[in-house]
Amino acid sequence: MSLLETKHLIGLRDLSYNDIRHLLDTAKSFREILDRPIKKVPSLRGLTVVNLFFENSTRTRISFELAEKRLSADTVNFSSSSSSLKKGESLLDTVRNIESMKIDLAVVRHSTTGVPQFLADNTNLTILNAGDGAHEHPTQGLLDMLSLETAFGDLKGRKISIIGDVLHSRVARSNIWGLVTLGADVTVYGPSTLLPKDISGFPIKIASSLEEVVRGADALMCLRLQRERQDKALLSSEREYRENFGVTASRIEKWNPEVKIMHPGPVNRNIELDSTVVDSQNSLILNQVTNGVAVRMSALYLLGGGK
Ligand code: CP
Repeated sequence: MSLLETKHLIGLRDLSYNDIRHLLDTAKSFREILDRPIKKVPSLRGLTVVNLFFENSTRTRISFELAEKRLSADTVNFSSSSSSLKKGESLLDTVRNIESMKIDLAVVRHSTTGVPQFLADNTNLTILNAGDGAHEHPTQGLLDMLSLETAFGDLKGRKISIIGDVLHSRVARSNIWGLVTLGADVTVYGPSTLLPKDISGFPIKIASSLEEVVRGADALMCLRLQRERQDKALLSSEREYRENFGVTASRIEKWNPEVKIMHPGPVNRNIELDSTVVDSQNSLILNQVTNGVAVRMSALYLLGGGK
């Protein structure tokens, strides 16, 4: 069924250059369709997709649902809080029962790393990872790359800085693997307690100051401070975080006034990013969200063998 070299989309780490290029180029065609008065195409008519969200989401869930509708697929939504998981049914039994209703593709978000791969290994469904734990969020990485290519063209040699809580960030991981595959230079900076222990093994640079990571960057990708995952006293206070790592309007003005600003959302305004910077001319944040629909259309279309 898949028109890619891969059957599933679990992460960008193991995705080939050709598959990334195919996903981004197809997304560019779908992005044009989104600007037409009639935004719907029949490409996935007859295909059924289930959206399995075991963790909260606004952007990814709505974006996938919209992408499925734009491609004329039949869609059903699953919400763990109102499911028989609450009566003790296992995750695998739940998904196998859903699969028995003749579903073709499953979009999976889960707070535990590895759940999409587990379902790919133990069901016959085609799996699209919509974010798993601190592992990967491949469609977010792809929509970020699409937004950057729209702003800059070819990303080879472009300097992309990632700032903040890399430790808990599946968005950072997917971006690092994807951007490096496309030839971008990636630099990260954040509190040492919020950088992964194995960061020196990543194909990136680690900056030694906020000024260094901001100056010279073509784009700054600011990460959300993941308050719900700060369970090990990794951070002294949010005020101190903002003082040392916050991307403020005055710092942008002083160090790199033209730099493009990105954030996967949801934003903690005035913590990792000043509210005025979120809404500034430099911000690509809402473009990222629009591009998310096109990227998800592309992933569904290519994995679903669209016509
Ligand atoms: N960027 C992102 O994954 O946002 P949601 O958690 O709202 O889906």
